[in-house]
Amino acid sequence: MAATAATAVAAAAAAAAGMRTSISTTPTQNRREKLSCSHFSTFRCVSPSSKTQAVVQSAASDPSPVFSSVESFAPATVANLGPGFDFLGCAVDGVGDIVTVSVDQSVAPGNLSISSISGDNYAAVSKLSRNPNSNCAGIAGAAAMRMLGVRSVGISLRLHKGLPLGSGLGSSAASAAAAAVAVNALFGGHLSLRDLVLAGLESEKTVSGYHADNIAPSLMGGFVLIRSYDPLELIRLEFPSDRELFFVLVSPEFEAPTKKMRAALPELVKREEHVANSSQAAALVAAVLQGNVRVLGSALSSDGIVEPKRAPLIPGMVAVKKAAMAAGAFGCTISGSGPTAVAVVDDEGKGEEVGKRMVEAFLMGGGLKASSVVARLDRLGARVISSRAD
Ligand code: HSE
Repeated sequence: MAATAATAVAAAAAAAAGMRTSISTTPTQNRREKLSCSHFSTFRCVSPSSKTQAVVQSAASDPSPVFSSVESFAPATVANLGPGFDFLGCAVDGVGDIVTVSVDQSVAPGNLSISSISGDNYAAVSKLSRNPNSNCAGIAGAAAMRMLGVRSVGISLRLHKGLPLGSGLGSSAASAAAAAVAVNALFGGHLSLRDLVLAGLESEKTVSGYHADNIAPSLMGGFVLIRSYDPLELIRLEFPSDRELFFVLVSPEFEAPTKKMRAALPELVKREEHVANSSQAAALVAAVLQGNVRVLGSALSSDGIVEPKRAPLIPGMVAVKKAAMAAGAFGCTISGSGPTAVAVVDDEGKGEEVGKRMVEAFLMGGGLKASSVVARLDRLGARVISSRAD
């Protein structure tokens, strides 16, 4: 049953995103392997050759658009999940970015231009570049166009930021995921999910570092394990649909640029730190598959390598974690590279209460105003939300 459900969720997500659900066009390319285990599926590729194949194969095709415009949404993500630095992440519902791409005759064929960037926070949004080579949505959208081999059509892109910048909720990845999905759907959905992750990684590499723990869950939904980067191998971890899981996301008014937060990390770790973090990351994966929120929370809370270096850079974070645990959360850590703090609970009302205590702690412990939301897992990932064919 679980395998059927997992397949259905993945197929629904792919269909909603306008992606092909078939695994490959040839036995060796775009291969999506589904293992026999009922709780997870893997997506494998050898990054360099599959990139080349995607470009070379589709370069001949120069696909025509199947819509005049496509609008897509990509959800926020919680990367790292504590001990899973750069290799675990999940998508959360409610908030995300929206990208609209349109065929535009005023744009040179084969090119992408950014026509507008909007968002609730004007000051933050106005910092974003409209140069497609330095904008996450632009980079990923252009990468998707190259992979598809689009040469005869120019497109314009509109970005609406629902996510705050530099918040630790995968803001750059959500823009990239929404753009890659929208471009792919505009031209008939020929790219695989894996190609879309690679397109998003081009953006992540440019803006913050080569890590897939935001872009993969934003595209795929649910929990994702990045088993390897070269070759890129992604494993979707199915959290049981009959279990309750809530993320309390508390974002202070403070920016923690990912590049800076990565620079704070040690190059080397001690053997005992490696053993402790690896065992907790493995426990977290087991807890996700078993739907054990208590173990999931305690494993998420147990990172002894990254969190201790980053928490002191976020005013109040140590107090916030203490407050979350005292209020009954199963675990708490930094979401991605911060400054958002994430706590895990199995009850929505409890989540509201935990959120209040965490907001207070940011103010008392760090002098920062903060806001709180309680979110569920987003199981779908990036998807098309509307399209026009006129
Ligand atoms: N794994 C990345 C980091 C996620 O922690 O630097 C950034 O959102």
